[in-house]
Amino acid sequence: MDETTRILGIETSCDETAAAVVENGRHILSSIVASQIELHAPYGGVFPEVASRAHIERIESVVSQALSQAHVGLDSLDAVAVTRGPGLAGSLVVGVNMAKGLAMGASLPLLGVNHLEAHLYSLWLIEDEAEPEFPLLGLIVSGGHSELVLMRDHLSYERLGGTLDDAAGEAFDKVARLLGLGYPGGPAIEAAAEGGDPAAFDFPRAWLEGSWDFSFSGLKTAVLREVRELEPDLEAGVEPPTSDLPIADLAASFQAAVVDVLVGKTLSAADELDARQLLVAGGVSANRSLRTSFLARSKIPVHVPPIQLCTDNAAMIAAVGHRRFLSGQRDALDIDVLPNWPIA
Ligand code: KG4
Ligand code: ZN
Repeated sequence: MDETTRILGIETSCDETAAAVVENGRHILSSIVASQIELHAPYGGVFPEVASRAHIERIESVVSQALSQAHVGLDSLDAVAVTRGPGLAGSLVVGVNMAKGLAMGASLPLLGVNHLEAHLYSLWLIEDEAEPEFPLLGLIVSGGHSELVLMRDHLSYERLGGTLDDAAGEAFDKVARLLGLGYPGGPAIEAAAEGGDPAAFDFPRAWLEGSWDFSFSGLKTAVLREVRELEPDLEAGVEPPTSDLPIADLAASFQAAVVDVLVGKTLSAADELDARQLLVAGGVSANRSLRTSFLARSKIPVHVPPIQLCTDNAAMIAAVGHRRFLSGQRDALDIDVLPNWPIA
């Protein structure tokens, strides 16, 4: 029997329409991502109805590009894996319906996947690195989530904590808007912070001692207060700030506060729970300051995805699909989407 698995992954949970074919859970044959950033930028965030309509318009072409770039037909696939949640209901439905149609038409198993576990599995897609070794401590930081998760084995997740208010990426997006920088906010803050002094403003760090939870809303409010003090006439977020604001220092000091808490809490959790290695994943893991700080401060090996696998993609969905396929999972063709699906 041929032991190679070839999984088609489909992802439409938020504002990227994506499809990919992955071999053996590690080797990317193709990965197509149609980003909707330009559609949502005028709103300063993801507009759900616009997102689902764009998914509907793009999904067929994205899937056929993924198959043709991988040089495989449906008949040489082993399964179709798709994001069931968490995410925007109207967007998830588009991907799940596409996956159901393909699974039914080609008599392939259908595998529903959790978007958050998929971010962790992006770390299995780095072929020139050894596979991550359990027990693993995972930090998932994206636009919608900041989660600390312990993995003792494949597909096993113990959720230690998460954000109580804004997700890390959401904080980047909101502060970027406040400072008159573009959308998405993460890359804009990172660029603005270059040349800024991370110690210029002493922004608060919410350590929340005794829990593995995060909170970023106090930090966001502190930046807002500082901006109002520096520019009393400004209605933050409504008018762009004047060039007199020390944008680079504000951005660098904000970024330093987020990075401090994310790295500090993850390293303490890893230490206390005897994790062997760290996984850092999700859109915010693209942040160079976060990556550098993890690599500099951690005593155990840290896995961070290559930049193109930090933000949403379907290769990570197929990577989980491979594991779920091997574990014997086979979902019914009438599965629903799960917009609020927690990781554990
Ligand atoms: O994982 P992702 O693509 O989508 C979600 O599942 O949410 O993450 C998107 C988030 C956005 O909030 C974006 O601002 C943030 O990731 N992000 C960054 C960077 N690149 C993207 N945050 C900080 N620094 C970056 N370089
Ligand atoms: Zn994501």
